[in-house]
Amino acid sequence: MWTGSVALSRLMCLSRTEFFSGGFPMKLKTLLVSMMASVTLVAGAAHAAELSIVSGDTGNGLEFLRGQLDKFEAATGHTVTIVPMPSSTTDQFGQYKLWLAAGNTDIDVYQTDVIWAPQLADQFLDLSEAAKDVVGDHFPSIIESQTVNGKLVALPAFTDAPALYYRKDLLEKYGKSVPTTWAELEATAKEIMDAERAAGNPEMWGFLFQGNAYEGLTCNALEWVKSFGGGQIVEPDGTISINNEQAAAAIDMVAGWVGTISPEGNLAYMEEESRGVWQLGNAVFHRNWPYAYSLGNGSDSPIAGKFDVAPLPAGEGPDARSAATLGGWNVAVSKYSPDPDAAIELALYLSSAEVQKERALMQSNLPTIEALYDDADIAAGQPIIPNWKEIFQNAVPRPSAPTQAKYNEVSSLFWSAVHDTLSGNGTAAENLEILEADLEDLKGDAW
Ligand code: GLC
Repeated sequence: MWTGSVALSRLMCLSRTEFFSGGFPMKLKTLLVSMMASVTLVAGAAHAAELSIVSGDTGNGLEFLRGQLDKFEAATGHTVTIVPMPSSTTDQFGQYKLWLAAGNTDIDVYQTDVIWAPQLADQFLDLSEAAKDVVGDHFPSIIESQTVNGKLVALPAFTDAPALYYRKDLLEKYGKSVPTTWAELEATAKEIMDAERAAGNPEMWGFLFQGNAYEGLTCNALEWVKSFGGGQIVEPDGTISINNEQAAAAIDMVAGWVGTISPEGNLAYMEEESRGVWQLGNAVFHRNWPYAYSLGNGSDSPIAGKFDVAPLPAGEGPDARSAATLGGWNVAVSKYSPDPDAAIELALYLSSAEVQKERALMQSNLPTIEALYDDADIAAGQPIIPNWKEIFQNAVPRPSAPTQAKYNEVSSLFWSAVHDTLSGNGTAAENLEILEADLEDLKGDAW
């Protein structure tokens, strides 16, 4: 049964036309046809499972997922129900922790954020054996991030590293270049925003980001801090580094933008709220993940063709650099699933090259399979993807590996300190000092 499942999901990596067209040598075709026959027999013998998968997908992600699941259902005879979730990763995590702690048997497959593996490892099945023929296709660092004490907790669906979205029409109109430092961004944002407002668009803003008190703010603020050479909150060796001058300078800089180049309401924005304002045409610059690229170029988007992407700007100081936080989503199988074999088949399918290519083309999500960065269709359809290979490879991980099961609390203390500062509730230096003490308490003798 098991070999059949793996062979089936491998076969599903070929589209019908690819398989039956002249692309494959005859011998290989004969071999695959005979494999397919045995797979059909095995699949036919297995019972049709009823699976459930959770999805907090943003944009048109739910529709995309449904389309992929329809193909899986047709190929396997299983049925899959989507359980829709809020798009906030923080809200999802809270719910999944409760469900898993209660041994919930209703959800078979979870879509998991890259930071969750160490915290939820005990609740998911080890996928090492099932995925042994395909793990080598993925970037090793991503597989490593999903491996906890030798257990492969989840299979990668896509990786994430943010971009600076900018309105190329507006930069051209005002003779400005794409900013490479935050100081340049601030000056250009202000100049264009003021001019556009004076010209009759009172809704125009300079820069939008994710400022709500949740995991997304941790991602944004880590980028500001790291871009100023202020470290990674907790370093890979477990040292708490956040209480430093560079980190404080970075956060104070952004506090100065709230109510000037960024709306006050930005402190309540998550990804979709900031994308909404940006995509209406009401911002010069926007920080978001690659999924906003295909949506921004959609046929119903007022800014289609008017924007482009660049790496996020660098800060100030001797260690200044452009910094992008590493994100990404994976697929994990609950150890409480009543149908683990079918659920594993689904996880393999959703992380397969076939689905990742579709995701890249339709959702502009970054693949985790290295070969797809050389795919001509992807490069032509979503040029951000090959251009983002280097950016995601240099992206900064959040400290989920060193802080293990305590990461969620670390992150929530960090985003609260930042949110307080952005809201005018204390300076960055004051809030980072308190944060450091709280993190020391949380750490105790060791993480
Ligand atoms: C994106 C990233 C994820 C991150 C989240 C924050 O979904 O892929 O890793 O935690 O944004 O909002």
